[in-house]
Amino acid sequence: MKGIKFYSISSYIPDKVVTNDDMSRIVDTNDEWIRTRTGIERRHFASDCTNVSMAVRAAEKALSQSGIDPEKLCCVVVASFTSEIHSPSVACLVQRELGLPDHVMAFDINAACSGFIYGLGIVRGLLMQNEDCYALLVGSEKLSNFTNFEDRSTCVLFGDGAGAAVLGLDERAFYSEYGAHGDDSLIYCGVGLKDTPMEPLRMNGGEVFKFAVEHIEYVINKLLEKSGLTIDDIDHVVCHQANKRIISNIARKMKSAEKFFVDIEEFGNTSSASIPIALDDMNRRGMLKRGDKIICVGFGGGLTWGGVLTEW
Ligand code: COA
Repeated sequence: MKGIKFYSISSYIPDKVVTNDDMSRIVDTNDEWIRTRTGIERRHFASDCTNVSMAVRAAEKALSQSGIDPEKLCCVVVASFTSEIHSPSVACLVQRELGLPDHVMAFDINAACSGFIYGLGIVRGLLMQNEDCYALLVGSEKLSNFTNFEDRSTCVLFGDGAGAAVLGLDERAFYSEYGAHGDDSLIYCGVGLKDTPMEPLRMNGGEVFKFAVEHIEYVINKLLEKSGLTIDDIDHVVCHQANKRIISNIARKMKSAEKFFVDIEEFGNTSSASIPIALDDMNRRGMLKRGDKIICVGFGGGLTWGGVLTEW
């Protein structure tokens, strides 16, 4: 079994802080409602940069912190569904901006909020074809590009940001679990075409909540079953940060509240960027030690879900 080693983890958080009180000046909402229903206190909006430039900044930091020679990269993969452009891909623009060599494969994946976790599985497969190389994996989302600022039930939830990691293979433990259930009724976000206006993000919050709780629990149990471990053996569980109540619900069921990391209060839901942002946040707080067993679980539009059990 070949595992994945994180050679670095980094994030780029845009400067513009938007508090719940700021949101209450845009739609009919208030700090108390948002805080108690979601755990969110503020989010960051990328007013002066694009999805691509956030991806570039996170990737640049990850690469320089990793100490890996860019010549040794075999791929740059960006998980995103909120870019301003369809082609070239965000990954190709990251490649250009960082001056990465031409032998690097560059492409985007769209698995919405499961994107970074899907990316870990894809990148691992690519690395297994060439064990001497490394991968740059980015999750970057400018949700504010696609948010409906007239819909209070969704616009208060999201934030912008990017996270990135340089990854390579090694012998540490790695287990994964993936799935999807094609559906456009619970979460939908349509791009604008020549004669059709953009359809901003819409969501059936209550049903997505149920879907999330059910699938996070399912994925964690599958990973524990595959690895032969119990939740007591796990040091940290890092779920996609969509709603603090979703995470608390699972943590309560698993009787392990202290293992479930939460930083949604600062960033809101940043979709595919939320897990690498959380890992970077934990790393900077000194919470991660080499060898720690971590479960990461993503879920979201598609509907998609996925999880990995890995060692830091
Ligand atoms: N401020 C104030 N009131 C709001 C509001 C807001 N921002 N948004 C909705 N409300 C109101 C509703 O209009 C409703 O009022 P009504 O009872 O008069 O009709 C009431 O609050 C309750 O709405 P409801 O949708 O039942 O709230 P909820 O407790 O389900 O919370 C979400 C809504 C969106 C926070 C919650 O469903 C959720 O987080 N779902 C999961 C979303 C998610 O994870 N998405 C990402 C997937 S990757």
